[in-house]
Amino acid sequence: MRVAPAEYFGFLNEIKDVSLPSAHDFCAGVPAGTLLETTIMNPTTTSTSMLRGKELTRRVDIGALPKVLLHEHLDGGLRPATVIELAAELGYKGLPTTDPGDLADWFHRGAQKGNLPEYLEGFEHTIAVMQTPETLERVAFEFIEDMHRDGVVYAEVRFAPVYHTARGLTQEEVIRSVIRGLRRGEKTYGVEWGLIVCAMRHMKKSLEAAELAIRSRDEGVVGFDLAGGEEGFPPKKHVDAFQAIERANFNITIHAGEAFGPKSIWQALQFCGAHRLGHATRLRDDIEFLPDGTMKLGRLAQYILDRRVPLEMCLLSNLHTGACKDLESHPFGVFFRRGFRVCLNTDDRLMSDTTMTKETTLATEHFDLSLNELEKLSLNAMKSAFAHFDQRIRIIFDRIKPGFAAVRTRLAEEERQG
Ligand code: HPA
Ligand code: ZN
Repeated sequence: MRVAPAEYFGFLNEIKDVSLPSAHDFCAGVPAGTLLETTIMNPTTTSTSMLRGKELTRRVDIGALPKVLLHEHLDGGLRPATVIELAAELGYKGLPTTDPGDLADWFHRGAQKGNLPEYLEGFEHTIAVMQTPETLERVAFEFIEDMHRDGVVYAEVRFAPVYHTARGLTQEEVIRSVIRGLRRGEKTYGVEWGLIVCAMRHMKKSLEAAELAIRSRDEGVVGFDLAGGEEGFPPKKHVDAFQAIERANFNITIHAGEAFGPKSIWQALQFCGAHRLGHATRLRDDIEFLPDGTMKLGRLAQYILDRRVPLEMCLLSNLHTGACKDLESHPFGVFFRRGFRVCLNTDDRLMSDTTMTKETTLATEHFDLSLNELEKLSLNAMKSAFAHFDQRIRIIFDRIKPGFAAVRTRLAEEERQG
């Protein structure tokens, strides 16, 4: 029987997932990443696979690697200059400054207060300048342009349409304007995308947002999220919205475990049917780190590992909101090496002064990642995207794997030439 190459290798990728090393392997002194490497079959990896951490970021252009972004807020990623221009166009007088550099600093300072509610305060201004079809379309187009410059081949971007009706647009018009910008961006730059509709945890309108997401699914909306302040607003209060999504055979991701602990993650999964988790940083609270260096997973962590639940992790945002006090205590490295299906994300590029290249560089240097591990992260994200299966397979085999293979070939060639 002839097997279509994409499906055949897609199957192998699943096997690789299953054959990831155990906690014991990694915590008993095996060098980080060693076993992970053996699961990836590529004839040119032998010496290039030794490159990791700072040596890797020195030798490889991280910006040019094919990356996948699943967790970014449209209203958290505007360019400072665009915010200023749009404010002038709309006659919005609320900006703290009209100098792009100062405004960028203002957003970054505001975001670094160490708690989520204050982190979210800056959105007042970005939302205020995204209130007409033209401004929404421009922000969406620039999002795709930024993704292209950042080496992102597929991006999912999310926002809450309910916030963009202050000047009379309906939520449908809001969505259509954003989609126009995303489509124009894709046509220009070839970056593929999916749009996620957010409901807000502190509002009562989540069912309305879920129905809007379902109605817009053939236009490019790929899923539904719950965002906003976590503490005091448990996801199970929005269970009717999530049930509507499930009944429509649609996709759910939920911000959980960012500003609240495992209970929020548990509710997101077991009451609300989340297919992916935004952040899940506090899942570390369900893992016991034993004196012999091994880990004991709690029932929730074990379930998430076993079910391959994707974790959309956001390093810098987590430091800014206080989800983690520093990178040393960030669980990304532990989750990745234990085999959780993690991926890297930006969350809010403007507020957290970040890009996918920056997050990837930070992760590579701090967690001593190799090129194969970076490929694994892009594959984890692409496998977990809400795009349809055929599109995911196509992007994996047409863009991600060839992109990484080209870098390996170049490194091998450089090594041959000494
Ligand atoms: N958490 C919740 N809501 C958000 C975030 C976040 O990190 N960023 C933008 N909206
Ligand atoms: Zn977020």
